[in-house]
Amino acid sequence: MCETCGCQSNVSPASSDVSVAEAPSAVAPVASSSQPFVERFSDGLQHTIQVVIGAQRKPPRLLKSLLHGTFLGHPLHPAITDVPIGAWMIAAIFDIIWLVSPVSSDWAARGALVAVLVGLVGALGAAVTGLADWSDTYGAERTTGLYHALLNITATVLYLISVVLRFQVASNENIVAAILGFIGLAAVFVAAYFGGDMVFVKGTSVNHTAWEAVDESYEAVMPLDSVEENRLYRVVTASGIPVVLMRRGLQFYAISATCSHAGGPLNEGTLDGDVVQCPWHGSRFCMRDGRALTGPATVSQPRYDVRVRNGQVEIRRADK
Ligand code: FES
Repeated sequence: MCETCGCQSNVSPASSDVSVAEAPSAVAPVASSSQPFVERFSDGLQHTIQVVIGAQRKPPRLLKSLLHGTFLGHPLHPAITDVPIGAWMIAAIFDIIWLVSPVSSDWAARGALVAVLVGLVGALGAAVTGLADWSDTYGAERTTGLYHALLNITATVLYLISVVLRFQVASNENIVAAILGFIGLAAVFVAAYFGGDMVFVKGTSVNHTAWEAVDESYEAVMPLDSVEENRLYRVVTASGIPVVLMRRGLQFYAISATCSHAGGPLNEGTLDGDVVQCPWHGSRFCMRDGRALTGPATVSQPRYDVRVRNGQVEIRRADK
């Protein structure tokens, strides 16, 4: 039983490019008056979001992890965005039906009103989860994410005005409300383009261990007598995959050293019992089974079986 996170992992007792972890350095945006406005605005907004969601608080940082989707093992934001996009598309279809035949399709106007309301509720969830994800981005992905967010906020405001207008007329028939909805939907589509650019072009929230090679057999990575207890070691497999290794008594644990969130070096992280914390954005993983415990990471680390043979520590990818 893991003392720190309570997992039930069974890792066989013992089984070389080696480097010892150094003290982690916090990565924090530094505002400067010489920076462009977008950068300074992003710095300030990210800081505010991180304070609100408790990014700097002590683990387990439940609210932050919840917003990222760590408990699901999948990013939460892209799942929620389907709600406003789908609902507002349905609203647009209802509005078109009503515009074509205002007299005979009163039901369409009411349907549009309900769809817009559902979309607004979904937009709230999409906004809070998206801002949590965005608060851990840097550089070009951060700027693209800001445009993505501003467009979606613009769309949400347009739909808010639209729904107010729909409530102000007895029959829910308001041509201005419908037009505002169309404009809002166009903004959502442009925002989706930026969101796709973040993920598919810039790699935001992509599992950074997804393409790590799986070797079938054990391979020696370092001499047993070089391994001290409760220290993180970076070893590299024959396929060039960096792995972080630790020893506790006769037990050895090893997981991929590349953080699934954005590629941070876990071997340079901090060790708390059997839990390693990434030095880049603070994701925490159980060394026994690689499970993601605290966001922003949502995907668990690949785990390695460890054994000792002939005085050498050997590892083999456990999950194929
Ligand atoms: S790279 Fe972001 S938490 Fe590890």
